[in-house]
Amino acid sequence: MAAGDPPNGTPTARNLSSGGTIEPVREILWGTSTGVRKYETATELPEEMRRLVVKLMVVQADTEFASIQQHRPWLDRAPTLEDRWIESRIVADEARHGLQACRILRDFGEEGQRFIDELLAKREGEHKLDAFNLAFDRWSDVGAFTCLVDRVGVYQLRAFQECSYGPLARAMPLMLSEEQLHLNFGASVLRRMVQDGAKYYGSADEASEAVRKWYPRALDMFGHSNSETSRRAIEFGLKRWTNEEARRRYIAEVTALFRTIGIELPDEHRDRHVE
Ligand SMILES: [Fe+2]
Ligand SMILES: [Fe+2]
Repeated sequence: MAAGDPPNGTPTARNLSSGGTIEPVREILWGTSTGVRKYETATELPEEMRRLVVKLMVVQADTEFASIQQHRPWLDRAPTLEDRWIESRIVADEARHGLQACRILRDFGEEGQRFIDELLAKREGEHKLDAFNLAFDRWSDVGAFTCLVDRVGVYQLRAFQECSYGPLARAMPLMLSEEQLHLNFGASVLRRMVQDGAKYYGSADEASEAVRKWYPRALDMFGHSNSETSRRAIEFGLKRWTNEEARRRYIAEVTALFRTIGIELPDEHRDRHVE
């Protein structure tokens, strides 16, 4: 499976019309309401689904804003000019992703706005997921984070692709294409470090240490294997896969990728907080 391929086959939702334009899919594609028209506004969502969308968007936005804080010190410290330019692009992309998630939250009125205010006040170390509370102490952290943690982000976004809430589904294509750049960049940082560490602020050992630091945090991000929330999200047509299904696909993908980079991945159960 190539980097960023969908964990379990792409939803067959994109219909190319004869003119070659992509027609948006109007009906729910999976879950208990398959075939029914998608939800298009916050007010028409059933209460439980409404709460779930808000919760998912708060976590999504939190990760976007947190990663800006993590990348920021490297904007003018990355080894090459190209690396600095990509760092600045990543920061701009994550800001835009945070904005997109907050725009969805805004549709939920005062409640949504309260969450946005809280999100904007969060500092380093105060974020929801562990992976976003760790600093990028070394350049190898930037490589391992973008390669491993952003890649989990891609799996999460793909799980929302063509989902039952129209505004969320429509935010996915651009976010996904931008995330693809981030994780390819991460793989290239690690690869260069393995091949010519002295030139690129590191060494093969440092790259490998960074992978040991971030891999368990990345695997934790998929959430608990028997999560009731993830089961409900699938029933509502919001998420495509269970946490464990997505995690298994991710492990298979990164195992193959790291073999080509020349770094050995730690055991998947080592140093885990969420299983
Ligand atoms: Fe992002
Ligand atoms: Fe990213």
